[in-house]
Amino acid sequence: MRKNKIVIMIASALLALTCLSGCNSEANDGAAPGVQEEDKLTIGMSFDSFVIERWQRDRDVFVQAAKELGAEVNVQNANGDVEEQKRQIEYFVDKKVDAIVIVCIDSDGLAEPIKRAKDAGIKVIAYDRLINNADIDLYISFDNEMVGTLMGQSLISNGLSGGRVIMVGGSPADNNVSLVEGAFERVMELNNVTIAGRVHCDGWRAELASEYIYAHRELVESCDAIMCGNDNVASQVVNALAVQRLAGKMLVTGQDADLEACQRIAEGTQLMTVYKPVEKLARRAAECAVELSEGGTVTGDDVGTVFNGKEDVPYVKLEPVMVIRENMDEIIIDSGFHTREEVYLNIK
Ligand code: BGC
Repeated sequence: MRKNKIVIMIASALLALTCLSGCNSEANDGAAPGVQEEDKLTIGMSFDSFVIERWQRDRDVFVQAAKELGAEVNVQNANGDVEEQKRQIEYFVDKKVDAIVIVCIDSDGLAEPIKRAKDAGIKVIAYDRLINNADIDLYISFDNEMVGTLMGQSLISNGLSGGRVIMVGGSPADNNVSLVEGAFERVMELNNVTIAGRVHCDGWRAELASEYIYAHRELVESCDAIMCGNDNVASQVVNALAVQRLAGKMLVTGQDADLEACQRIAEGTQLMTVYKPVEKLARRAAECAVELSEGGTVTGDDVGTVFNGKEDVPYVKLEPVMVIRENMDEIIIDSGFHTREEVYLNIK
């Protein structure tokens, strides 16, 4: 009986040991990916919206590039709502992500949630649009002043000197807008061009552009050119011009190299657009986000600084390229941004 008891005791001890080691190994097995998961860098990315063609490309390339670098990206869309964007940043802080990348809706409206992120040791990157008066780790964008200069220069090369232009700009809350417009105005001033009218599309709502054109028919007819803040705005403007039988008779600018804009350039209803290689921007931004999250700093020939009202922020600046009918094939088609079939779809 006693012997039996001893055997049972040994057996139970062995069982317990096996279970323990089993549980342990299970815990280890379970822990290994768990630990990896915890180790995996996570990046929160908040977009203004995806209404404009380019932002989907930015998102896809950023997410893919980050993945290749071993980071996971949580993408949120604020749908043009500043309060929603603030909530998204707060959510990323609560989730303890390593970095937050923001395409801000209001360049002056994010200081508070960004302070929370910084206090929590999270890196903050302003993507494409500068965030003012906030402690951010990086600003990465295209040279927006050059965008405005290219718009201006293309109009001047097409005979606008001494003429009249209307400026239909983007959202005044977007820091890029004043940079583009400031540089554009400097070119106009140097060439004695009169800015005969101007309007801004709040929240980048392009329908406001066509409303303006319809409401200012005589003014429009007295002008030679319309500077549009981007291709989506140009789309609405050219539609409104077409209704007034003015499409193709006025010089129209844009930016982003949206497919429809490239088609309009091929067809002659838009003079130019500005190609911004967003793949390059998104990939570089993903590299920077990972580098900063790992405690490194961003270096390279393309790095300078910009003052955001609070501090000098490291600034990765990429170059935009002017696109007109003559270099469409070289810039847009050869780079694979759009295909020949797409661009020349409506041209027989
Ligand atoms: C970007 C443009 C874009 C616009 C509207 C700007 O900040 O630089 O590329 O078209 O926002 O989304």
